[in-house]
Amino acid sequence: MSKVLLIFAHPNLESSRVNAALLKKLPVSENFVFYDIYRKNKNYKFDVASEQELLIKHEQVVFQFPFHWYSATPLLRLWFDEVLTHGFAYGSEGKALHGKKFSCVITTGGPAEAYQRSGYNYYTIEELLMPLRQTANLIGMIWQEPFLVQGALSIAQEELDKKSFEYRDYIQKKLG
Ligand SMILES: Cc1cc2nc3c(=O)[nH]c(=O)nc-3n(C[C@H](O)[C@H](O)[C@H](O)COP(=O)(O)O)c2cc1C
Repeated sequence: MSKVLLIFAHPNLESSRVNAALLKKLPVSENFVFYDIYRKNKNYKFDVASEQELLIKHEQVVFQFPFHWYSATPLLRLWFDEVLTHGFAYGSEGKALHGKKFSCVITTGGPAEAYQRSGYNYYTIEELLMPLRQTANLIGMIWQEPFLVQGALSIAQEELDKKSFEYRDYIQKKLG
């Protein structure tokens, strides 16, 4: 069984600075699979059986996306709707994902200071991620500490380089 599946969901990688920089640090390993859902599903249609098969084959799933309206990007939202079906991911027979680890790598345009009571986003990232965290709970997956790159719109190159190395370590640790 391969260990880590990274489901990457950026709608416009060509114009990405931060996610593009992170991807350059991804490991090459037989235990690591990178899956770009926007590139592979241009018509917004999923082969649900093969998506589910892919999940079954991995112990850990990492979802990587830029924060869009305080949530995942649209195709990833659709992926949750279509792939995490009753009888597969939830319900009395839906135990296929139980015990697998659920991680998020998220870039936010807003800086960390904005995500607090005194900031313009008021809510913390932990609060805003509750729907995803509860999704993980419902489907029996184990929520992991997310990896965040905040202030992505104006991050200095030096800081981005530092974050990219931290990201490499974050993914590498999952591979063991
Ligand atoms: C449609 C849209 C919605 C966005 N919503 C948010 C948001 O809710 N919070 C936030 O901090 N940034 C938001 N952003 C900014 C993106 O998160 C930011 O551009 C991205 O993380 C930068 O990463 P990249 O360089 O890889 O594209 C949004 C951007 C777009 C295009």
